[in-house]
Amino acid sequence: MYKALYRKWRPLTFDDVISQQHITETLKNQIKSGKTAHAYLFTGSRGTGKTTCARILAKAVNCPNMKDGNPCLECDICREAEEGSLTDIIELDAASNNGVDDVRDLRDAAVYSPERCQYKIYIIDEVHMLSNAAFNALLKIMEEPPPYLKFILATTEIHKVPATIASRCQRYDFRRIRQEDMAERLTYIAQQESLDLTPDGAALIAKLADGGMRDAVSLLDQCSVCAEQINAETVSATAGIAGRGYLYDILEAVSEGDTPKALEVTAQLYDMSKDLMRLCEELILQMRNIMLIKASPDTAGSLISCMPDEFDRLRALAEKTPLEDVMSRLELLQECRERMSRAMNKRVEFEMALIRLCGNVKASVQNVDNSEIFDKIKQLEGMIGKASAAAPAPVEKVVTATSPGGSDQPVPNIDLHALKSSDVKTCEQWGEVLEEFRKINPAVASSLEESYAGTAGNVIFITAKNPFFVSLFKIKENALSLGETIYKVLGQKYVIKARSTVNPEKQRSAAEELVKKAINSSIETAVDNNNDQ
Ligand SMILES: Nc1ncnc2c1ncn2[C@@H]1O[C@H](COP(=O)(O)OP(=O)(O)OP(=O)(O)O)[C@@H](O)[C@H]1O
Ligand SMILES: [Mg+2]
Ligand SMILES: [Zn+2]
Repeated sequence: MYKALYRKWRPLTFDDVISQQHITETLKNQIKSGKTAHAYLFTGSRGTGKTTCARILAKAVNCPNMKDGNPCLECDICREAEEGSLTDIIELDAASNNGVDDVRDLRDAAVYSPERCQYKIYIIDEVHMLSNAAFNALLKIMEEPPPYLKFILATTEIHKVPATIASRCQRYDFRRIRQEDMAERLTYIAQQESLDLTPDGAALIAKLADGGMRDAVSLLDQCSVCAEQINAETVSATAGIAGRGYLYDILEAVSEGDTPKALEVTAQLYDMSKDLMRLCEELILQMRNIMLIKASPDTAGSLISCMPDEFDRLRALAEKTPLEDVMSRLELLQECRERMSRAMNKRVEFEMALIRLCGNVKASVQNVDNSEIFDKIKQLEGMIGKASAAAPAPVEKVVTATSPGGSDQPVPNIDLHALKSSDVKTCEQWGEVLEEFRKINPAVASSLEESYAGTAGNVIFITAKNPFFVSLFKIKENALSLGETIYKVLGQKYVIKARSTVNPEKQRSAAEELVKKAINSSIETAVDNNNDQ
């Protein structure tokens, strides 16, 4: 079976690990002197050698023929550890075993001394994913560990590890891999694999990988399939738009609000076994690039690492999108990545995020139009003055909408016809809902300023002052994201009844009225009558 190059070339001894001498030397010295710690915490960005070093360390402390602090790789213990069949070295991925029960199992098992080795070693990868209860259970074991027990915790997100845990560990910070070191290692791997990698090709891969060795080796892998000779040109072809066109397809679909297109590209990638978590990370990187181009057009070139042809395409995307939208999309993607690492079905999480990303655009476009008119009305009201305004009489009729259907929409569990206004209870957490909602859908959230919400049974009634809320709400994606936020904050699914106290059509004709008045009073207006599409 084909084994990805980065797996095949995972270093097996500390001496093979590059760019982390400050760590590997210390660990080797500890092993040689037999003074190892009970618990280690390895942190640092992706693909810098945390898992690799955890495995080497676990072998080295148990290997009976340890050589200069490295595992011998020849004894039964080293070999079985490598195959993953050694029961005394246990690897747990906290991303999928993050519950308190998992840690309790671990605690129960930890009572038994090692079967064959001197130490029983738990490697807990992605430890920041543990739940609070699981952290507490872990803390209990770490407080008084039996002498034969050791922990190696690894994480990319150290700030999410409770201080109580971190303070019980020896901490090691893994650095990004230096470009020279990376190029050298790539050249070595290429030689071993009989690949024709030129120095400029190696240098370019190292530059693009941005400190992560896994990405570098994966890119080498990818290039080796596409080209006979791997030089700067072929690397750039593989890594650039040609190799990553799908990313731009998605980004462009998002910027055009083309949900079907975004979903279709994703489905194709999924069928081609693309890791969606990785895809999400790639999108985050590109979205960050777009953000930098917008925020700092003059220096972005030096801040971001991408191919020249990519830069042009990113710039075109940047031109189309307001910075605020870029940032909220970035936030949404980051949240999605976070959720994906916990989710059973990563694809669903990713697709939900895509729908939101696309929906956002429609919402914001529409919102800009509508709220502009709304603002102008306010402006005009002020200019004309209250007396002459004879402002639009409050319109009696309310416009309403119910959340557009979806298969898992709840049905009202109350009789809406028999409902009295006294049955509706004010929703105390509405402010919280709006705060959350602003994060994922700022455009619609802003149309909910000064809104009121009350609940009766599983129905939530939202009354907005801004008449355009209802039209925005009629767009399915907006309704869905609002429904989800309500679910997240209130902990229950609700049927949403949206209403606005003013009819937008009448509001519009009121606007025309105002414009006429303004013209009659010779006040210059920015609203012209044809603007009302
Ligand atoms: N310091 C290093 N020296 C040599 N190769 C490395 C180094 N770090 C990573 N690699 C390469 O990258 C691959 C992944 O490394 P590893 O799993 O140790 O990363 P990690 O730091 O645990 O990343 P993550 O946070 O994504 O789990 C390895 O199989 C190896 O090919
Ligand atoms: Mg790892
Ligand atoms: Zn050994």
